[in-house]
Amino acid sequence: MIELKHIWQTYKAADGKSTLHAVKDVSLTIRDGEIFGVLGRSGAGKSTLVRCINLLNRPTKGEVIVDGRDLTKLSPSELRKVRHKIGMIFQHFNLLSSRTVYDNVALPLELAGASKDQIKAKVEPLLKLVGLTEHASKYPAQLSGGQKQRVGIARALANDPTVLLSDEATSALDPETTTSTLALLRKINKELGVTIVMITHQMEVVKQICERIAVMDHGEIIEEGSVLDVFRNPRQPTTRRMLSGILCTDLPPKVVQTIRDIFAKHPDDCNKALRITFVGDEATQPVIATCATKYGVNFNILSGQISEIQDSTFSSLTVVTSCTPEAWKNVEQYLVSQHIQIEDLTNGL
Ligand SMILES: Nc1ncnc2c1ncn2[C@@H]1O[C@H](COP(=O)(O)OP(=O)(O)OP(=O)(O)O)[C@@H](O)[C@H]1O
Ligand SMILES: [Mg+2]
Repeated sequence: MIELKHIWQTYKAADGKSTLHAVKDVSLTIRDGEIFGVLGRSGAGKSTLVRCINLLNRPTKGEVIVDGRDLTKLSPSELRKVRHKIGMIFQHFNLLSSRTVYDNVALPLELAGASKDQIKAKVEPLLKLVGLTEHASKYPAQLSGGQKQRVGIARALANDPTVLLSDEATSALDPETTTSTLALLRKINKELGVTIVMITHQMEVVKQICERIAVMDHGEIIEEGSVLDVFRNPRQPTTRRMLSGILCTDLPPKVVQTIRDIFAKHPDDCNKALRITFVGDEATQPVIATCATKYGVNFNILSGQISEIQDSTFSSLTVVTSCTPEAWKNVEQYLVSQHIQIEDLTNGL
């Protein structure tokens, strides 16, 4: 659906001499009908990259292929047509304050030259879809943030887009409104088949609706994959830091000291600190109890966290044990045979 090939975006720095590479050689494929997340810290280059998809930013170098056509090669009039099929929503909604809800949603249709009847036939169902029928004649100033974003979503859908770009669309909303807005976007994705690209720094967004993600840092994509794969096996320190709320990636110094104290008491044992992660049904296996009863190996649980990820759960436990090397071998074999994901933290303490 969307293919970015070797995209570079270079800006002149404020001094007018040096250059800043906001996006560096990024290649990315976003599949038809998926919800794809672009995650990263402030200044990572997320907005710059996503604005290349509709050429709001024309990349310095690279190809932007949407539905098989390279947008950088289109004439201005062809590009205008293609842009109609790429809707966009923003953090601060970008509504026209002098227009009612109805007229904001109608705007793209007016610009496309639709008749009053055509506009009505399109806007009314869209307002119903986003739950704003009763607010049609209100002005943006009379709406809550969540309602404003719903207007933004309805407006973005007015031209029946095949792609919806969302640049931090829930960042200005409270957690509850974020959840309901994300649920609406998911419904739009499922019912209308719209491919959605979500730029975000909110883990909530990734957890609730993204299927695959790319993590950006300093203009580059440093990690890419399905949400569960990246959560299970984050390879880059930046990703691990972003996931710390879900994975307990950084153990507090006090906990590290506790572990060292435990290990110091068992100098002759095999001392291990582990992070065990479970996805979905795996969490129902009595893993820790089996290690104790079958192999006589007891674990101390230092921290635990469980997150809901779409229709599944993701749990992470940090545990320590001191046992004989033979017992540890058995435990390790058992965990591997059960496909339990373990990460040995011992050497990093
Ligand atoms: N028009 C521009 N001219 C010059 N530099 C720019 C321009 N737009 C963005 N930049 C710079 O490019 C880098 C990437 O910016 P971008 O807005 O893409 O980051 P971001 O990941 O979206 O950040 P945030 O999460 O804060 O929105 C930043 O260093 C920014 O200052
Ligand atoms: Mg941005």
